[in-house]
Amino acid sequence: MDKEITRKDFLLKSSKAAVGITAIAGASSLLTTATVKGKATLTPWPWSYAPVDLESIRIRAHHLKLSGYECCSGCFGAFVEAQTQLIGDPWTTMPYEVMLYGRGGGASWGTLCGAVNAAAAVISLVVDKANSGPLIWEVYGWAASSLMPSDEANQFALDNKYTAGTFNGISLPQSVSGSVLCHASLTNWCIEANKKFNSADRKERCARITGDLAVKTGEVLNAYFAGTFVPEYVTPAYAQQCLTCHGAGVLENVRVQESCEPCHGNPHSPQNVITEGGGIPAKFELSQNYPNPFNPNTKIQFAIPNEGKVALGIHDITGQEIKKLIDHDLLHTGKYSVEWDGTDNFGNKVTSGIYFARMTVGQMQKTIKMNLLK
Ligand code: HEC
Ligand code: HEC
Repeated sequence: MDKEITRKDFLLKSSKAAVGITAIAGASSLLTTATVKGKATLTPWPWSYAPVDLESIRIRAHHLKLSGYECCSGCFGAFVEAQTQLIGDPWTTMPYEVMLYGRGGGASWGTLCGAVNAAAAVISLVVDKANSGPLIWEVYGWAASSLMPSDEANQFALDNKYTAGTFNGISLPQSVSGSVLCHASLTNWCIEANKKFNSADRKERCARITGDLAVKTGEVLNAYFAGTFVPEYVTPAYAQQCLTCHGAGVLENVRVQESCEPCHGNPHSPQNVITEGGGIPAKFELSQNYPNPFNPNTKIQFAIPNEGKVALGIHDITGQEIKKLIDHDLLHTGKYSVEWDGTDNFGNKVTSGIYFARMTVGQMQKTIKMNLLK
């Protein structure tokens, strides 16, 4: 670490902040030079960037995260500090506290991971709109699919290289978030590591990830400015397959580049529903369950002539739904079957008696009567 930011530095910096913000806004088409107040010297956007040392950017980001700047401002601040030393103005005017909102996925709302958010902001500050997209995708894709904290992040602790916190010498559990969401990332890790989110371990884990994201951003930007950046991110095959319909050109109602699986699974083929052969059905049918009477398993077959949302619930003699077998899942035209194992929604075995299976497909509804005999 070359220099730690003190409160005094911060105050000095923020007195220049107004100038910095004017400088960014000044480059946009909305504000003309004539409308800019004060003595601001306009700095054209994108700002200039000098290649960063990856080892020190990791330590800086980790340090800032644990010094009250948190993940987002910490990752962003590591670049502002590094560029301030390498280049000076206009970086000296940037109050990186502007990124404090990004902590905890946006003031603890669990949306975009703060370190990932900061990485994208740094890229957007130094790379024009046409070229920043692939660089940001690279960082997002890496963040969603990598084991974190990375082996390198843990190795820095084992080598006692971190300058903040009390976790040097300790390697932390790792997890893959599968998503750029803070919520997915944090909760997966808490479960996998068996830690609480308020624990010191979890805070250290996010500090290491802040370092990981700073390094990834540094790698991508260093390569871009050296003319050696090659985009590697591809939308996961799972999402690509879903986007053949939901993406541009057809339904065009979904714009997501990460895998749909962690959030949706495949709503078009619910796991308990089995596809049966036998051509395209002419009409909606709900066949008598087989066997009937039954104990405790029985099979219910049905056919739908048009694609639609299907619901199938088991009701007791009072009409109350005791088991949801199909929950408004979208099924394509075809013949299907589903098993009921004689349990309710809580997994308890139900008593002998008459039950009704009621199916709705769009506006259509059919019910069959079944006899559980023990
Ligand atoms: C063959 C085209 C096609 C493919 C492939 C496809 N979908 Fe759909 N999907 C549809 C249509 C049509 C609808 C109904 C119209 C709508 O809501 O967009 C739908 C609806 C949905 C819905 C809303 C369903 C509900 O129950 O509310 C979700 C969620 C969804 N699809 C997710 C996915 C995911 C995830 C994948 C990939 C595993 C996928 N889709 C693949 C055509 C497709
Ligand atoms: C980070 C979690 C997440 C990911 C990843 C995600 N979705 Fe969603 N999706 C949601 C949420 C939350 C909603 C809104 C809640 C709802 O209606 O289920 C939604 C809604 C939808 C809907 C409308 C649902 C309806 O009931 O009509 C469709 C269609 C859909 N998503 C398709 C996709 C596809 C296709 C992908 C992958 C390319 C995808 N989603 C990835 C979380 C996600």
